[in-house]
Parts: sequence; structure tokens; C-alpha cells
Amino acid sequence: MNRAAVVSGLGTWLPPGVVTNDDLARELDTDDAWIRSRTGIGRRHIADPGTATSDLAVEAGRRALKSASVESVDAVILATTTPDQLCPATAPQVADRLGLGPVAAFDLSAVCTGFLYALGTAAGLIAARTAERVLVIGADTYSRILDPADRSTRAIFGDGAGAVVLRAGGAEEPGALGPLDLASDGGGAELIGIASGGSRSPFRADTLDRADPYFRMEGPTVFRQAVERMAHSTRTVVQRSGWQLPDVDVLVAHQANLRILHAVADQLHLERDRCAVHLDRVGNTAAASIPLALADAASSGLLRPGHRVVLTAFGGGLTWGACALRWPDVTAL
Ligand code: COA
Repeated sequence: MNRAAVVSGLGTWLPPGVVTNDDLARELDTDDAWIRSRTGIGRRHIADPGTATSDLAVEAGRRALKSASVESVDAVILATTTPDQLCPATAPQVADRLGLGPVAAFDLSAVCTGFLYALGTAAGLIAARTAERVLVIGADTYSRILDPADRSTRAIFGDGAGAVVLRAGGAEEPGALGPLDLASDGGGAELIGIASGGSRSPFRADTLDRADPYFRMEGPTVFRQAVERMAHSTRTVVQRSGWQLPDVDVLVAHQANLRILHAVADQLHLERDRCAVHLDRVGNTAAASIPLALADAASSGLLRPGHRVVLTAFGGGLTWGACALRWPDVTAL
């Protein structure tokens, strides 16, 4: 039996506060019709000021462990661009608060592709027999890094968390992670990011007036790249799986913009209704987007056990990737 990492639990958490497009329109020069027609987004969840990324991650992690009916794992990987603080990593605190003991725990930074990179890393730990079980969490609190005056990013992003438990199992089992494609292009680093606060441009009293602490994105360029890269990565893993594109029952693509999801489906000649769509209610939740969309698709009945599913994402870095698997019989909590 070929050893593989198998999805055995799925949990999600959204902070209770909801901000509608009409709420945004009261603060910014925008309106519900523009946001819906250009992005497909109707509302998003926003964490209250006392809630940090670790709080969302703990809730999602707890639900994933319960969904997998386990109380222990050998490692925790937290994909996030919005850690509680720059140093130390947030994952050890999450592991501690989940009562997981002195397990390996680290953050992984690949922006909106973070969850796929974390799945690949966890699968590697399992393949190397470093771990039998890994908790993989994607959690982000983008509301903390958006420019309050930037209507293009505030319309898109929301806060949330999602997590899966991966366990060692056989490659033929439902839920076994199949081919995984991960890629990057640092030449496009300036298209998505935060200019200040790192080692190149640290926050210091004498430079604060020139600092830009906010997340910036070149929307139209990113849009085109996202479509091309996710379609290409999807093709790659479908081919490596020995499937044909029409075999894909559900495409769970990073929830950035409904027009991106439809353009990816069109490029792949897949019916648009095979795309999981969750962004209308949560916006772009960055590293949490894929597990949140998976849980939503599973609870709506779009995604059922045995289905062939492709996960694909694109984000800052630039980074992108895809993973193919057969969906297992797990209950999303
Ligand atoms: N309300 C009203 N107008 C808005 C707006 C909003 N919320 N956001 C942007 N606009 C305006 C712009 O200011 C611009 O006005 P101008 O022509 O006067 O300068 C106009 O709409 C068109 O802007 P543009 O950026 O070309 O719009 P777009 O149709 O590309 O949509 C995004 C903008 C951000 C929604 C879109 O580019 C997008 O989704 N990009 C990809 C995001 C993504 O994939 N991210 C993945 C990694 S996280």
C-alpha cells in the first residue's frame, strides 16, 4: 500500500460580525451593484478588534479535530499572512491552546496559496514518517491590514479560518491527496503585498511618516494572472491523476472574484456550476478560502463523497498551485 496523506476531518470558523456591501457604501465611494457585478461578493465576516488570527485558527482547528474524532496530532501548520505578531510564529500558540502538547508547530507564508502549500508540506511530513497526523489550518484577518480608504481591497477581503486533519493512509483511499502542483514567480512580488514593516523597510520612529503599512494589490494584472495560473495548475494535476478535465466533479478554486472562477472554468471547458462558490457570503478570506469553500460545498451537497475534486489557488509571491483528490466521507464542522 502506497503511503499517502488522507483528509480525515474538516472544520471552519467565521467571526460573527458581518459587513454588507451597503455597510461599505456608507463609508466609501462604492455601492452594492458595483461590488456584486465586478466581484460576486455580497458580504464578508470581519473580526472584532479583540480577535486575532490565532483566535480564528483555534476555533477552526478545534472543529477539524472533532470532525476527525482525534485529540492529538504530531504537527500543526498554520498558513497565514496575518500572524498575531511578526515574531514568534502564531502556530505554537494555536497548538498550545488546542492542548496538543509539545508538537511541531510553524507558520507558513504563501498568501492566498498558503493552504495548498501547507497541504503539500504536511503530506511531506507524513511521507517522511515524521508525522502520522497533521493539523493544517488556513486563517487570516485581512481586515487588520487593509487601508480603510481603499475601496478595491475593502470590497473584496474578509476574515475567517478553515482547517483539515491529514492522517497517514493509503493512496487509493478516498481523501488521499493526489498530485500536487506548487509554483511561484517572485518577479511579480510587487503586485500583491505590504511595503513596510519587514526588514527592508522596518517601522522606525524616524521613517514612520513615509511607511505604508497597508496591503496593496494591482487588481487587473493579478486578475489575469490568477486565471492563467489556476487553469494551468488544474490541468497539470488532472493530467498527473490520469483523469480527463470533464472527470472533475467540483473545482474548489481560491475565492477571489466570481469573474475569476468563471473564467477559470471557461478556460478548462468545465460547466460553471461545477465551481464551488462561497465568496458571495464571505469574500476573499486568503489562506482560509479553500477550506471554507470546501466545507460550504460539502454542506450544500455540491461536493459529495467519492467526487473528483481539484483545489486550486493563486496569491501573492506570486504563488499558485493545485491538488487533486477524491472527496472522503467526512462531516465538516
Ligand atoms: N467600488 C467602486 N469602484 C471601484 C471599486 C469599488 N469597490 N474598486 C475599484 N473601483 C474602481 C477603480 O477605482 C477604477 O476606477 P477608475 O477607472 O476611475 O480608476 C474602476 O473601478 C476599475 O478598476 P479596476 O481595478 O480595473 O476594476 P476591476 O474590474 O479589475 O476590479 C478587482 C477590481 C480588485 C475587483 C479585480 O481586479 C480583482 O478581483 N482582481 C483580482 C483579485 C485577486 O485575484 N486576488 C487574488 C490574490 S489575493
